[in-house]
Amino acid sequence: MAQVSPVRTPANLTLGAPIPRGLKRGTYFVQTWGCQMNEEDSEQMVLGLESLGLTPAASPNEANVILLNTCSVRKKPEDKAFSFLGELRFIKEARPDLVIGVCGCMAQIRADEIHRRAPHVNFVVGTAQVNRIPGLVEEALQTRRFQKRLDLPERKGSVVTDVPDRLGGRKTKLKAFIPVQYGCDKFCTYCIVPSTRGRERSRPTEDIVREARGLVANGTREITLLGQTVNSYGKNLAEGRVSFGQLLSILGGIPGLERIRYTSPYPRDFKTDLIEVIRDVPQVMEHCHMPLQAGDDHLLRRMRRVYTVESYAAIVDELRATVPNLGLTTDIIVGFPGETEEEFEGTMAAMERFRFDGAFMFKYSPRPDTPAAEMKQVDSAVASRRLNQLIKRQREIQLEIGEALAGEEREVMVEGPSPKNPDVWQGYTRCFRMVHFSPGSLSPGQLVQVRLTEPHMWGFVGTVLG
Ligand code: 5AD
Ligand code: SF4
Repeated sequence: MAQVSPVRTPANLTLGAPIPRGLKRGTYFVQTWGCQMNEEDSEQMVLGLESLGLTPAASPNEANVILLNTCSVRKKPEDKAFSFLGELRFIKEARPDLVIGVCGCMAQIRADEIHRRAPHVNFVVGTAQVNRIPGLVEEALQTRRFQKRLDLPERKGSVVTDVPDRLGGRKTKLKAFIPVQYGCDKFCTYCIVPSTRGRERSRPTEDIVREARGLVANGTREITLLGQTVNSYGKNLAEGRVSFGQLLSILGGIPGLERIRYTSPYPRDFKTDLIEVIRDVPQVMEHCHMPLQAGDDHLLRRMRRVYTVESYAAIVDELRATVPNLGLTTDIIVGFPGETEEEFEGTMAAMERFRFDGAFMFKYSPRPDTPAAEMKQVDSAVASRRLNQLIKRQREIQLEIGEALAGEEREVMVEGPSPKNPDVWQGYTRCFRMVHFSPGSLSPGQLVQVRLTEPHMWGFVGTVLG
């Protein structure tokens, strides 16, 4: 998620080389906030910059081109982006040829504010215009004029076919994201995403399969399919309608692809046929991240989430009965406008009932021009208290689940050294629990059986068997 700004302050600023004529020897730095879709967009941005001949810089201080890929889902990442832009002003003053571009969700909805508050920004690019970036960088070297490209595809009847061309030549990765669906049509009352990413649109199936095959040929063993409501994939494909379940089955036929994950499904669109595909396609992992958001029907209605706690429970029951060893994770918002103590207790009770293997828990953050921002807000201290209470209980539940699992054997895909301690290696089970183990003579990509020994908040320490 959010990262610490790596910009040095003016006091200890060392300046990079002056920008070369043409970009052949220049360098770039891309700073990313937010979700996996943003991480994926940043990879496309990097491929675009490298197509210009640019190479990576170690920090913004040395870079000739800096891109900020921003997030608007809550206020905090927006504040971080503005403060990062504030720091970049010092580098731009010292090196006026520096090119600065702002992309992503905040760029989509706050382009004019960005220009006003940070006039040193050369261009602002919306979420559907990532492939314009190389051209804008070249333009920025010619002209000092501020540029913005914010078009979002329009809906034509029920079909929105306009999906971006993606750059090939992706870097070799054991695990890769593949966007299959862009935008969102659900309009939950708290959420800014329909404004920042536009109407729901699905990528043609053959493009997805081609990309997956290319990645596998290049060493990828696990793919994660991305979409805001990924299981409504295919609803608005112009021709050759393919459901999300069918897409999983097709991808399951790619030789050499060991594991398939997806995020995030919308509960109402989770139907029996999809659950059966998850059971029957061996590569589909036994992990489901299904946002619940709240554990009270009145709250869910005010959020415009089109399901009830009971209908969510029916999906969970069916999933758990059909898919053995399922890892179930979720997103929860506390302090939504008007949330009463009783409604919050409903959310606490839902955590007891569903016993999630993991949960991202957020304090509600009002987003401009969303219906919930106009509703009567909950006192911030009350919301913080509730969030802490929820986090505390969820931690206990996770440890209880971990203790109950200790001693069991699970398949782990070996990834490599832990970033925190290179003597220990890490990998994930098929139900998406991280496991640390000693590497022996293992190599990345191998599938091994591991005995889960010591449970932790983040997963397990384990022993590789055989
Ligand atoms: N405030 C707090 N959390 C939010 N999310 C989306 N919008 C908001 C908001 N305004 C959370 C939801 C979503 C996750 C990606 O972010 O839980 O599932
Ligand atoms: Fe936002 Fe709701 Fe769409 Fe998820 S389903 S992206 S929370 S509007």
